[in-house]
Amino acid sequence: SNELCDVQDQDQELFLSKLPKTKGWLGSSDLSLYQNFWCPSTLVPNIISFQKHFQAHDQDIILASKPKSGTTWLKALLFTIVNRTNSNLSDTPLLNSNPHELVPFFEFTLYANNNELPNLSDIPSPRLFSTHIPYASLPESMKDSKSRIVYICRNPLDIIVSHWHFATQADGVHSCSKWTLEEFVDVYCKGEEIFGPFWNHMLGYWKQSLENPQKVLFLKYEDLKKDTKTQVKRLAEFVGFPFSLEEENKDIVEDILKLCSLRNLKDLEVNKHGKFMPYFDNKSYFRKGQVGDWANHLTKAMVKRLEKLIREKLSAYGLTF
Ligand code: A3P
Repeated sequence: SNELCDVQDQDQELFLSKLPKTKGWLGSSDLSLYQNFWCPSTLVPNIISFQKHFQAHDQDIILASKPKSGTTWLKALLFTIVNRTNSNLSDTPLLNSNPHELVPFFEFTLYANNNELPNLSDIPSPRLFSTHIPYASLPESMKDSKSRIVYICRNPLDIIVSHWHFATQADGVHSCSKWTLEEFVDVYCKGEEIFGPFWNHMLGYWKQSLENPQKVLFLKYEDLKKDTKTQVKRLAEFVGFPFSLEEENKDIVEDILKLCSLRNLKDLEVNKHGKFMPYFDNKSYFRKGQVGDWANHLTKAMVKRLEKLIREKLSAYGLTF
């Protein structure tokens, strides 16, 4: 009944108001510490709804990442790999839609309307979804089902530089152009960044990928850049859509790499002028795509501080960049 709904809303509001808060860079939205990660406060209700209602199917494929790790690229690749028999590459929906539209986020898109749950049961299998939330906070049904998770990881130094550039692109009131790179580095080192601390985020998926390699595939942006073909074949196998010998002979893999390349996606009309995600134009998701761009932006002191943190928090577990 409506009355019950109101009581629940009030409870939730009280719960949300009590979560620890810190400053966020996106305009007026602060971050809340929810289940040990820092999350834009406006997203917490969406995440609670997702955790409560989402029912995973065994065929589902979920792409998980920390923002600015290469999510957009992986979405394009995954979508193309899985749908390559449905449409020719020359008329794939990727030519007219931003990858975030084709592989939607649970927390930004699917569960964004708190008055209405999404109808996900009609989506043809395999359903492709994505999320930025840590492994520990994924809904139980996702962990219990045979659904598969692909995680993309990236050198935190490049993530920070990419994120800083990205943040300055937000719409008007949401822009954080006032934040210096120094401040960005500082919040990352404190772990008080969006979906952070980054080390918990990366380690959560890293450990799962080691314990349960059938469940979690752990990819690195750097490997994907260095040897895209090998990594893409690995990805295709993991999600159950391996390339046949015939396809390989027809250079289908190469065609997919070309289609999903930064240059190609960036030049599409939809990505030059369109907008799908809240606050950000499609073009904000495509910048330089260079490994090691951090060297052009971070000071020696910043690098030293970050590298020490990475050694302590990640290298100790075998995760290096
Ligand atoms: P840079 O800012 O370093 O260029 P996300 O998709 O997780 O938001 O990450 C964005 C980063 O991935 C940006 O990094 C962006 O340029 C890069 N990127 C986007 N599309 C890409 C593609 N097709 N190939 C390689 N890198 C891509």
